[in-house]
Amino acid sequence: MSNKYHVKKLEKKNDHLSILWKDNFESKFHFMWLRDNCPTAIHPTANMRVFNILTVSKNIFPKNYKIEKNKLNIDWSEGDHTSKFNLKWLRDHCYTEINKQKYQSPYVFWDGNLKKNFNKIIIDYDKIIRDDKYLSKWLNLLHTHGFALIKNAPTRKNSAFKILNRISHHRETFFGTPFDVINIPKPNNTAYTADALRNHTDLPYFEYAPGYQFLHCLINEADGGLSSVVDGFSVANFLKKNEKDVFKILTQTYIKFKDTDYTQKAIRILHSPILTLTKDGDFNDIRFSMAAMGTLDINQNKMKKFYEAYYYFASLLHNKKFKIDFRLETGNIFCFNNRRVLHGRTKFNPNSGKRHLQGYYIERDEIIAKINHFKKIM
Ligand code: OGA
Ligand code: ZN
Repeated sequence: MSNKYHVKKLEKKNDHLSILWKDNFESKFHFMWLRDNCPTAIHPTANMRVFNILTVSKNIFPKNYKIEKNKLNIDWSEGDHTSKFNLKWLRDHCYTEINKQKYQSPYVFWDGNLKKNFNKIIIDYDKIIRDDKYLSKWLNLLHTHGFALIKNAPTRKNSAFKILNRISHHRETFFGTPFDVINIPKPNNTAYTADALRNHTDLPYFEYAPGYQFLHCLINEADGGLSSVVDGFSVANFLKKNEKDVFKILTQTYIKFKDTDYTQKAIRILHSPILTLTKDGDFNDIRFSMAAMGTLDINQNKMKKFYEAYYYFASLLHNKKFKIDFRLETGNIFCFNNRRVLHGRTKFNPNSGKRHLQGYYIERDEIIAKINHFKKIM
């Protein structure tokens, strides 16, 4: 085993044990943390903590402690309990070290040039169904690029459940699963018309908008109906670097998203910024839909500036520097991170041929959890 898992020096300090490893890295392990993470604290099959922290006092400390073989053994001052920690586990979970690491974003930003390498994001349906290697490749593409296209999928109605279930269960909404994207009389959503849809994220009026959307093309023989796709994080990153004021407005102004679906007897309203960030300052969510934006009620002193920022962002989201246009073919499944990547379509002529897509949603949690499983993250 490498030097980093061997101990040079072990010392008890006021509220922690200090370990100097043979690679000269020094870790702090606080007493409470150690007691809470005793291997016996975790249920052997449920992998959940069974230890109740309230059964010890805040003053608990190691009465005796020593390194034996590849373990750190601690006799605790309370509860007549001994903990035996694997040294490799301790080093791998060392929070002194973890917190020194610089955050690395998983996202690969892309723009209109991705069209030249379109093959990179296309995967064959059968390969994903049959082989975990391709399932993992697909999920990693979704995680890093937020966008992948599956080709040669079956075209029976509802058949995309099979590929979705390679990951996990779907996310249900009032639209049902799958929802049929066709031109219908008295549509309750503009997606169910033959009109153009400007680039948007779906369901921005949900507190927890669906993480991914899969649009399964059963048939696309009508004139028009070209798809568009744009990496919202890439555009946001451009603003972050070049238009700081616009970026600030989009991340700080709470605007109103709204849906009044006449078939639902429900009015959904959510106030949120268009862009939200994570604790590390990375991009978290984008909510953007001209169709689902409510009548804004921002402070009168901020309205003009907001509209300027919104207009600029909207123009970049439809600029060919950033977006890609492509045609969904029968048997394609267009998969994208719905809180990062925006999608749209041009209008189509329903009298010229059939166009039928079926839509499914699945959470980001499910994609990431499966990736973690393949990586065996413990
Ligand atoms: C949708 C949608 C795009 C299309 O159903 O959410 O945006 O190409 N559809 O019909
Ligand atoms: Zn949509």
